[in-house]
Amino acid sequence: MELLSAVAQSYPRSGIRRMFDLAAGYDDVVSLCLGEPNFDTPLHIVEAAKKALDEGLTHYTPNAGLVELRQAIADKYKRELGLEYTADNVMITVGAMEALYLAMVTTVNPGDEVIVPDPCFPAYLGQIMMLGAKAVPVPVREENEFKLQADDVEKAITSKTKAILLNSPSNPLGSVLGKEDLEAMAQVVLRHNLVVFSDEVYEKIIYDGRSHYSIAQLADMKERTIIINSFSKTYAMTGWRIGYLLANKEIAQHMPKIQEGIASCVAAFVQKAAVAALTGPDDPIEQMVNDYNRRRSILIDGLNQIPGFHCQKSPATFYAFPSIKDFGKTSQEFAEELLREAHVVTVPGSAFGNMGEGFLRLSFANSDENLKEAVRRIAEHVKKKY
Ligand SMILES: Cc1ncc(COP(=O)(O)O)c(C=O)c1O
Repeated sequence: MELLSAVAQSYPRSGIRRMFDLAAGYDDVVSLCLGEPNFDTPLHIVEAAKKALDEGLTHYTPNAGLVELRQAIADKYKRELGLEYTADNVMITVGAMEALYLAMVTTVNPGDEVIVPDPCFPAYLGQIMMLGAKAVPVPVREENEFKLQADDVEKAITSKTKAILLNSPSNPLGSVLGKEDLEAMAQVVLRHNLVVFSDEVYEKIIYDGRSHYSIAQLADMKERTIIINSFSKTYAMTGWRIGYLLANKEIAQHMPKIQEGIASCVAAFVQKAAVAALTGPDDPIEQMVNDYNRRRSILIDGLNQIPGFHCQKSPATFYAFPSIKDFGKTSQEFAEELLREAHVVTVPGSAFGNMGEGFLRLSFANSDENLKEAVRRIAEHVKKKY
């Protein structure tokens, strides 16, 4: 008897973890491989969690989450994007990761096709596979400022296409889809009657006066868009495991029963901390984004001074995605070489899809000193070897 399921045998391994594990063999590396803020959670959020624990919030909450938090999220969307939602549209989840899964499990059937950008956040592919659906990668190119093109999406649509997964701002590309890009995408979505999963977890980490735009803000799009968001990146809360989604009520009403079967609910005191995050001051976010902005220049300007590296200045996120094609190596070979010889941990672009070949992803959610040191080590290595 075969003990293992097909999912267990074929679930894709993370190329990010692979580099992380390889790096464990070295004790003096500068690691630019993980995608998480290097800040602690702002104090007023931590205090709110402690207070909630002291007050005895140690029990189950409703499956959909505390009404107070769901209402605070609905208010945020009204305030920031002018979108009308109520608490009934909001589902609280274990990070954006579970929000993505709930969004898909309520709308996607086995055999359906889901369009994903290539390169993309690799967890999308595993989740789509677990549902017995098929991920259809659509190439995203450097010459288009790493923006997914509506024409390319339309070419990939078949009679089985159910949904498209958008991720703006993008991990790993750092790119942003603006209103005009989204208008073109919305035309395609409406023409083919698709559902949109819009992963907007990097909405606040955006630079140079740009502001985030959601496809749900466009005419006729809100009803067919499920927005996925999280506290992880904006509030440096990756370890708290709390995110959320917004969907139309017909879809949203099926989610609590599924949540009951997956995680029951998110920890009550964590939900209270999330209320404090949304209703508290924005200064800590501004401070973090200012720091990321400075670090973006240190890393990207630094890389661009190294012969052979070409890197667009990411308009958002804390990722740089430089081309390393000039070195004539695969991105896996080059990332392993940088680890072995320069002791800098990066992620090969190929970990994010075939179109990531020839690129690396480096995170600048790190200290100024570490970023300067990483650039110094890479420059020295390149000078010596090429
Ligand atoms: C694009 C994207 N979506 C979702 C997630 C998951 O976030 P969370 O920690 O909220 O589960 C990440 C985390 O790296 C991400 O980069």
